[in-house]
Amino acid sequence: MSILQCLLVCVLCSCFVATAKLPNIVFVLIDDLGFADVGFRNPAISSPNFDQLAKTGLVLNRHYVFKYCSPSRASLLTGRWPHHAHQWNPLMDSTIGTNINMTMLPAKLKAANYSTHMVGKWHLGFFDPRYLPINRGFDTSTGFFGCCEDHMNEKSGCSIDYWKNNAPDPRNGTYDAYNYRDDLTDVMSNYNTENPLFLYLPLHNVHAPFQAPKEWLDIYPANSTCEKRHTLQAMISVADNVTGHLVELLKKKGIWDNTIMVISADNGGAPCAGSNYPLKGCKTTFFEGGVRSVAFVNGGLLPESRRGQSTDGFIHIADWYPTFCKLAGVDPDDSGTGKFPVDGLDVWPIITGENEKTQHEEIVLGYNFDFRRPGQGAIIVGNYKLVVGLQEIGCDSLMWSPLDYPCSNGTLGPDCDPYCLYDIVNDPTEMNDLSKKNPDMLKKLVERYNSYSKEPRHMQDQGYHSEDDLPQDPNACKYMADNGGYWRPWKNI
Ligand SMILES: *[C@@H]1O[C@H](CO)[C@@H](O)[C@H](O)[C@H]1NC(C)=O
Ligand SMILES: *[C@@H]1O[C@H](CO)[C@@H](O)[C@H](O)[C@H]1NC(C)=O
Ligand SMILES: *[C@@H]1O[C@H](CO)[C@@H](O)[C@H](O)[C@H]1NC(C)=O
Ligand SMILES: *[C@@H]1O[C@H](CO)[C@@H](O)[C@H](O)[C@H]1NC(C)=O
Ligand SMILES: *[C@@H]1O[C@H](CO)[C@@H](O)[C@H](O)[C@H]1NC(C)=O
Ligand SMILES: *[C@@H]1O[C@H](CO)[C@@H](O)[C@H](O)[C@H]1NC(C)=O
Repeated sequence: MSILQCLLVCVLCSCFVATAKLPNIVFVLIDDLGFADVGFRNPAISSPNFDQLAKTGLVLNRHYVFKYCSPSRASLLTGRWPHHAHQWNPLMDSTIGTNINMTMLPAKLKAANYSTHMVGKWHLGFFDPRYLPINRGFDTSTGFFGCCEDHMNEKSGCSIDYWKNNAPDPRNGTYDAYNYRDDLTDVMSNYNTENPLFLYLPLHNVHAPFQAPKEWLDIYPANSTCEKRHTLQAMISVADNVTGHLVELLKKKGIWDNTIMVISADNGGAPCAGSNYPLKGCKTTFFEGGVRSVAFVNGGLLPESRRGQSTDGFIHIADWYPTFCKLAGVDPDDSGTGKFPVDGLDVWPIITGENEKTQHEEIVLGYNFDFRRPGQGAIIVGNYKLVVGLQEIGCDSLMWSPLDYPCSNGTLGPDCDPYCLYDIVNDPTEMNDLSKKNPDMLKKLVERYNSYSKEPRHMQDQGYHSEDDLPQDPNACKYMADNGGYWRPWKNI
């Protein structure tokens, strides 16, 4: 090789290093958004930004989550099945949080110098400072710790729940999603594009309490539906607006082309409010309406050939952990003492279309979940899904809502006691229980399900805790009152 050739190679090399920037990763998690609570599936919803992102992006038809809040978030940020992370929702005074030994996704991405930010709802424990977002890998965080608070004054039970990095952040009188919109503007103006970006936006909308600004209620015809549904429609439009605002910020910063953005719900639409049409069931059930979330992908990194498409590849929310680690060039391994290894699978080949069969043979949606009724769970093996135990049915008249009439009664069909078996590929609405018709398949799935009972008990206890006996501190509220009236860590401080 001549000196000239060598120089040329070196120049090309350095050029390549300088331009091959690590991708920016943005995850938007919309709370309790139903499968049909988006304009592109339901003409009764106004969500122009979601619709545009879905229309020019990739819709994930089979994106699975836990049947409610906190475990879906734990699964996303630890890469574990919910029962390997946890299956409970911490209460405000719970002395519990996602296993501190597990490395959360933003901490992983720090190894590749990502700038990591969170805006919105945490719900993974905060009683001890070690559980705070900034101590789990986020450079900055703003938002709240619990499940839900008043959208206008951030009140949650005995105290106010609004926090920034390592201190309370008083805000009162502004609809919380507007605060998040402002926080996103701050994050993006302070962000230095020298580092790749990881931004996690778990919005409070469209979770109860049902409150929406008048200007958004007014975009829907008066009495177009029942009052709660009307409020929910407006809350969805606000979530859509904040997401659209974020896309604008990313574009203005000039980083959209090197960004992958995933938008998903944390669980199905809530009973008596959301619409999961045509799926059966809702949040708090293991039927498809509870665990098959609305989800779509966009951003400049999505290949042109995938735009305007949808995929039937099975994806679980735990899969984003290894997928994002891979994109960032970080080892997703997180095994070690006292913790289950990562369960997720790198599903990038599904996203790119390179191989849509890059999916789990088996997805554990929940195992031996014992909140009020013992023994609930669900597992998918191939095309089949086993649903175990009676499901939590909050408001059965609204379990299965046709698009435009979410206030009318739907059809639920029989509950599962002890088992239901569905071919969810050919019977996505779970109308045809095969548990008696196909005993061989039932036996196979029950065996797979029961095989999880052999996992180490001391580790299972992390995940299987009954919601009825979550450790709580009766003095938490007094501590908050004595310390300014804001929720904050109160142990090991
Ligand atoms: C991260 O940044 C530090 C300091 O700027 C640098 O030394 C290191 O090589 C970077 N690591 C990666 C993986 O880019
Ligand atoms: C918020 O502000 C209103 C109006 O000033 C006041 O009445 C209310 O007590 C405040 N709420 C909280 C939780 O601080
Ligand atoms: C909407 O319904 C409420 C209560 O059901 C009623 O008081 C109100 O007049 C209705 N508004 C319109 C525009 O029909
Ligand atoms: C958000 O809503 C505001 C107020 O209606 C509007 O001006 C703005 O264009 C909306 N932004 C997006 C991205 O939808
Ligand atoms: C975390 O790891 C330590 C040391 O390996 C172990 O003693 C502890 O039990 C683990 N904690 C949890 C919650 O798994
Ligand atoms: C739903 O069905 C229940 C009982 O079948 C009935 O009492 C109720 O009025 C119905 N609700 C609606 C909105 O049709």
